[in-house]
Amino acid sequence: MAEGSPSHRMTYGGYLRLDELLELQDGPEGYAPAPCNDEQHFVITHQAFELWFKMILRELKEAHQLINQEHVEEKSLPRLVHHLDRVTEIFRLLANQWKVMETLAPQDFLAFRDKLGTSSGFESWQMRELEVLLGLENEQRMGGMDPLLHMRKLASEGKVSDKVLANFEVTSNAPSLNDALGAWLARTPVNGSLPGQDGDEEVVAAFVESHLGVMKRHGEEVIAHIVAIGHGSEEQVRPRIEAATEQATSFLKPEGEVSRSRAGLLFIESYPELPLLSWPRRLIDSFVGLEQSMLLFRSAHARMVERMIGRRMGTGGSSGVDYLDATTKYRVFVDLWAVRTMLVKRDAIPDVGHPEFYGFAIGQ
Ligand code: HEM
Repeated sequence: MAEGSPSHRMTYGGYLRLDELLELQDGPEGYAPAPCNDEQHFVITHQAFELWFKMILRELKEAHQLINQEHVEEKSLPRLVHHLDRVTEIFRLLANQWKVMETLAPQDFLAFRDKLGTSSGFESWQMRELEVLLGLENEQRMGGMDPLLHMRKLASEGKVSDKVLANFEVTSNAPSLNDALGAWLARTPVNGSLPGQDGDEEVVAAFVESHLGVMKRHGEEVIAHIVAIGHGSEEQVRPRIEAATEQATSFLKPEGEVSRSRAGLLFIESYPELPLLSWPRRLIDSFVGLEQSMLLFRSAHARMVERMIGRRMGTGGSSGVDYLDATTKYRVFVDLWAVRTMLVKRDAIPDVGHPEFYGFAIGQ
């Protein structure tokens, strides 16, 4: 029968390749003894995670394709948000999926744990690739681990294929999502001024100075208020408030020079009412939501592991729970989190310059 003819019907099992898929839960070839019920549950849970990691990578790569451009069209932003929000939901689902793993009793896990040898989730190259694609810096990783070097080592030991390594190299050598996001933020129109335009540097610097001025004035009010209500003396409170303004200064002007990317971010977060900035704000929020759900996933993994193996070392040789807890301190989108500390209430900042640029018709 010719392919595509009415009799060559697509079937459920054929479309999903179920025969092949359902053959894959019995461990590697020649694995003996065959997995017991608990071990099969362990395998299926891991495979389900890896399938979702595959989907996350696909979504992130699509998002990367859209944002890693010299000019990101406005109409791409809803699509970008869509990809990121799906990843957020997948991580949320995965954070709950540890619950299924927890139905494995600690002693029932010990019954087959030795069979795992030194294999560990630590070797999950999809997880590593998605971290690199997002832009997790090596300095943040425990022991400054370099995932590319680690992957090369695994490949040299035959633990990952050449194809996986080649793919990993491509992702590692491209700008990360965080890099691309930074470049896009640096192009934010600030008070109607675009990078490269005459006087842009002055406009952006004035915006930053004005914001820091507002923070300082607000800080003085806070000090006066705290002292007035008897919650501390000026000597106690002033250093803390001033430190916050100093932090904001070095964030917005690292090494004394204004960062256009951070100024753009602050601008978008400061004027949420501007129509032109509403999708950019949504996009920033989606990145934050994604990282938040990923952190909750990491944290839920650590709690599951603590419940399962207590404070034992991991099969991958790490300290186990302490290592996993340390990974919950990682932050990829450092600036997006940091800017929150320096926002001030809307009434305290001047109205935006050139409101018509942002889709605000004056007098309407
Ligand atoms: C009984 C179940 C599990 C236990 C006891 C466990 C334990 C651990 C431990 C101790 C580590 C730290 C590295 C090491 O020394 O091995 C680790 C890392 C990891 N595990 Fe699990 N795990 C379990 C299930 C899973 C499952 C179902 C997945 C899903 C794929 C998974 C994914 C990972 C990943 C991706 C890492 C690396 C984390 C990182 O370096 O940021 N684990 N696991």
